[in-house]
Amino acid sequence: MDLFEHQAQELFAKHGVPVSRNRVATTPDEAYAAAAEIGGRVVVKAQVKTGGRGKAGGVKLADGPDAAREVAGAILGMDIKGHTVHKVLVTEASDIVDEYYASLLLDRSQRAFLAMVSRQGGVDIEQVAAESPEALARLHVDPARGLDPDTARRLVTDADLPDEVRDAVVDILVRLWDVFRKEDATLVEINPLARLADGTVRALDGKVTLDGNARFRQPGHGEFVDISATDPLEVRAAEKHLNYVKLDGQVGVIGNGAGLVMSTLDVVAYAGEEFGGVRPANFLDIGGGASAEVMADGLEIILGDPDVRSVFVNVFGGITACDAVADGIVQAVGLLTARGETITKPLVVRLDGNNAAQGRKILAEAALDGVLTVDTMDGAARLAAELAGKGA
Ligand SMILES: Nc1ncnc2c1ncn2[C@@H]1O[C@H](COP(=O)(O)OP(=O)(O)O)[C@@H](O)[C@H]1O
Ligand SMILES: [Mg+2]
Repeated sequence: MDLFEHQAQELFAKHGVPVSRNRVATTPDEAYAAAAEIGGRVVVKAQVKTGGRGKAGGVKLADGPDAAREVAGAILGMDIKGHTVHKVLVTEASDIVDEYYASLLLDRSQRAFLAMVSRQGGVDIEQVAAESPEALARLHVDPARGLDPDTARRLVTDADLPDEVRDAVVDILVRLWDVFRKEDATLVEINPLARLADGTVRALDGKVTLDGNARFRQPGHGEFVDISATDPLEVRAAEKHLNYVKLDGQVGVIGNGAGLVMSTLDVVAYAGEEFGGVRPANFLDIGGGASAEVMADGLEIILGDPDVRSVFVNVFGGITACDAVADGIVQAVGLLTARGETITKPLVVRLDGNNAAQGRKILAEAALDGVLTVDTMDGAARLAAELAGKGA
């Protein structure tokens, strides 16, 4: 999960990395109030999850509250590399003398952490790395030892930072390591790490990517999730602890177990070729225990996708036997009807494995409107694709 600059700054501040005073604003009037509170000259910065905001006109100086309101009005709503600006950061303007670069990241190819520092910050670091690689000091960090002051000093020396800032930057790097490790980040970057006229060094920009797999031990990170930028169906699925992924075809896919779901996607795409290139619209893994509740939630999410024209429910009975799954489907249809959700799209169900015969019998006897059973995976995929192809 990538963070906005203001969220990155929040984590920097928490671990003692020096940042400027700032306020988030979503309207020009809020920007006015923020500037009035901060006082003096401020910089108004577009909050979008992409770099190069400065070059795109998304970072502007304002002399005071009135100017901040005007500048915020121009930046809010702006499109920067396909990202619409919904909020700005109003922050105190710094008197910059020099701009450096510092980052820590997970270097997967080396199975290690990598720390980088350059005295040529501010600009595209990719350009520095390509044109003058000697200006970018790199050092792998031993995960057990971490970035201790000695290692940080070596890096600062390699980067040939001016003597006057070395102590300050060593201190910042050690704190940045805290952000990286304690917050379970895979990337933390400061560009520019600025030396100001008063001699202090400060992070004037921040980029942080958090490791989504560590969310279970980072309850505080929930507040960083940007609901507005996430597919609403994915949000609903996550609330129900279901794995839902949006794709761009027409057949909704529900299965139990990641392996089965993945092969179902292939089989649907293959069968769909015959019907004008029908493909999976999404998929949802209901996991091991396919209870009526879970099945109802799953169907509701899949049917909520307007692209879906037919649904393929592909279940292999293992620990959960097929008769329980069939009961689940029957009850799920009942639950959905009770919730006022009429099922207007055909469901093709394939049950195999433990108690498959009993499961099929339950569905046959229930004779639900729009629910079709097919015994083989290929046959079911073909029927689901055909129904979607007809726009059924
Ligand atoms: N608080 C600030 N005071 C003065 N100048 C700033 C401030 N924040 C950013 N800048 C200037 O704007 C440039 C771009 O801002 P930055 O936050 O790095 O955005 P981006 O990397 O997306 O272009 C910086 O390199 C710096 O020169
Ligand atoms: Mg920057």
